[in-house]
Amino acid sequence: MAFAAVFKRHTLRACLLAFLPAAAFSVYAADGNPTLSGGDTTFTGANSRAPFSQPADNLSLKRRMDFVLGEAIFEKIWVPSPSSTTASDGLGPLHNARSCSQCHINDGRGHPLNGNNDRLASLLRLSVPADTPERQREAQINGLAGDPVYGSQLQPFAVAGLAPEGRVSLDYEYTSVELADGTVIELRKPVVRVIQPGYGDFDPALRSSFRIAPPMIGLGLLEQIPDTRLEALADPEDLDGDGISGRINRVYDRSRDRLNIGRFGWKAGQPTLAQQNASALNNDIGIGNPIYPAASGNCTQQQSLCLALPDGNTAQQGGLEASAEMMRVLNYYTALLAVPAAREQADPQVQLGRQVFMKAGCGGCHTPSHVTSRNTAFPELDSQTIFPYTDLLLHDMGPGLADEHDEFSASGPEWRTAPLWGLGLTERVAGTPYYLHDGRARTLLEAILWHGGEAKPARDHLVQLDKTDRDALIRFLESL
Ligand code: HEC
Ligand code: HEC
Repeated sequence: MAFAAVFKRHTLRACLLAFLPAAAFSVYAADGNPTLSGGDTTFTGANSRAPFSQPADNLSLKRRMDFVLGEAIFEKIWVPSPSSTTASDGLGPLHNARSCSQCHINDGRGHPLNGNNDRLASLLRLSVPADTPERQREAQINGLAGDPVYGSQLQPFAVAGLAPEGRVSLDYEYTSVELADGTVIELRKPVVRVIQPGYGDFDPALRSSFRIAPPMIGLGLLEQIPDTRLEALADPEDLDGDGISGRINRVYDRSRDRLNIGRFGWKAGQPTLAQQNASALNNDIGIGNPIYPAASGNCTQQQSLCLALPDGNTAQQGGLEASAEMMRVLNYYTALLAVPAAREQADPQVQLGRQVFMKAGCGGCHTPSHVTSRNTAFPELDSQTIFPYTDLLLHDMGPGLADEHDEFSASGPEWRTAPLWGLGLTERVAGTPYYLHDGRARTLLEAILWHGGEAKPARDHLVQLDKTDRDALIRFLESL
C-alpha cells in the first residue's frame, strides 16, 4: 500500500512536470513543481470534500495515530468545570468559542460576523498604549498591553453565572474604485463597535483589531522555512530600492525565554506553532496548558468573579487543564495538515496569470517558493520545496488596512504577507469567501484593491490591466 501511494505521487509529478514548459520555472526555487505546493506533503487526492483536513501525503500509516489524536483535540468541544469528563473540562470562564474548529472551519478560515445568529469565527483583539512600566513589561511578553479590565481580547461568552464581556457589532462603510477599463468595484470596510459591555468602560485609550481565523494548512512547513532565508528576504531599509521593505517581527518565545522570529498570526505575533496553539487554547477557549498555565484564561485581576470560579486542573493533566501530551498531539496535527495540490497549472490562462502576478510585483512579498530546513522531529517536512507565496515578513500596507494596534514590533499598518496556497478552495472549505485579516474582501479582486503602502505600485498595476490580464491573474490565484 505504501508503495502504491509513493508510486502514485511520483507518476503524478512526472506527468505534471511534462506538462509545464521549462520557462515557467525560472522564478522558482531549484527543481520545484508549483503544482505540489507543499512538496511531498501535498494532498493530491481529487474532489475531496475536506481538502484542508488531510494529513501530509508522505505521513506513513505508522505515524498517523498522533495526527488522529490531535484532530480530536482540535475538534473537541470543551465543557465548564466541574464536570465528570476531566479531559474536556475547564472551559473559560470567559471564552470566544468552545472548540478550535468553530473558528477554523473545516481547517479553513473563519469569516466576519454576518448578523446576530451567525456563529463566531473571528475575534477582537484589544490593547492600550504601553505607557507605564507595568504595561511595558506586559508588552515585552505578550507583544501588547491589554485593556486593564477586559484583557487582550474580547470574550463574548462566559460560563453560567458570569457576565460575558460584550459583543462585536459590524457595520460597513462602502467606497468604489474605477479600474482603467471603466469597471467599477465596490469595496467595504468594517466599522467595529462593542455592544453590551459587561464590565463597565473600556480604557479611554483602547485600540482594537478585528481578525478572522486564518486557514490551518501547511503551517508545519512555514515553521521550517530557515531563519536565514527570512533574514535574507528582509530589507527593512529598502536597500535594493524596489519600494518594498519587509521586516521580521521579533517576538517573545516563552519556551526558549528569548526573542525569536514571528511567523504566525496576521501580524506574525507568535514564533512557533506550539506557542500559537497554546495561546489560542488559553485565550480563545480558556484552557490552561504548559505554555499558558492560567486556568482562568484571559480573565484579568479586575475580573474577580471570573478568577474565583472552579478550574479544570487535574492530576491526569499534569496539574493543568490540558497536559503536555495533549499539546504534543495538537501541535502534531497542526504541523502536518497538508496543503492541497494547485490545480490546472498547465492551463494557458493560469500561466498568463502567473506572469502577470510576477510582472505586477506581487512576488516581491508573496515569494513563490522556499526550501524547508533539515528536520529530524518531522521527517515529512524535511528539505521540501514548497510554494506558499509568502515571505512571512511584515509590510506597511497603508492606511486603508491599518489598525492602531501594535504587536511586538509590528505597527498598525504592518501585516504579515498572507500565504496564497489553497486560496482557490476557500469557499469550498469554509463555506464563505472572505479575504484579508478582517474578512472585508468578498472577492480576490477586492482583496488586491485594498493593497496600499508598499504594495501600492502592485495594486496600481492591477488597476491598469486590461480584462484579459486581470481575469488571468484572478484565475491564477484561484488555481492555487
Ligand atoms: C474565536 C475564534 C478562534 C478560535 C476558537 C481559535 N482560533 Fe486560531 N486563530 C483565530 C484568529 C482570529 C487567528 C489570527 C490571530 C492573530 O492574527 O492574532 C488565529 C490564528 C491561529 C493560528 C495561526 C495561523 C497562521 O496562519 O498564522 C493557529 C495555528 C491557530 N489559530 C490555531 C488554533 C488552535 C489550535 C485553536 C484551538 C486551541 C484555535 N486556533 C482556536 C481564531 C480562532
Ligand atoms: C508589499 C507586499 C505585498 C505586495 C507587493 C502584494 N501583497 Fe498581497 N498581501 C500582502 C499582505 C501583507 C497581505 C495581508 C493583508 C491583510 O490581511 O490585511 C496580503 C494579502 C493578499 C491577499 C488576501 C489573502 C488572504 O488570505 O486573505 C491576496 C489575494 C493577495 N494579497 C494578492 C496579491 C496580489 C495578486 C498582488 C499583486 C497584484 C499582491 N498581493 C501584492 C502583501 C503584499
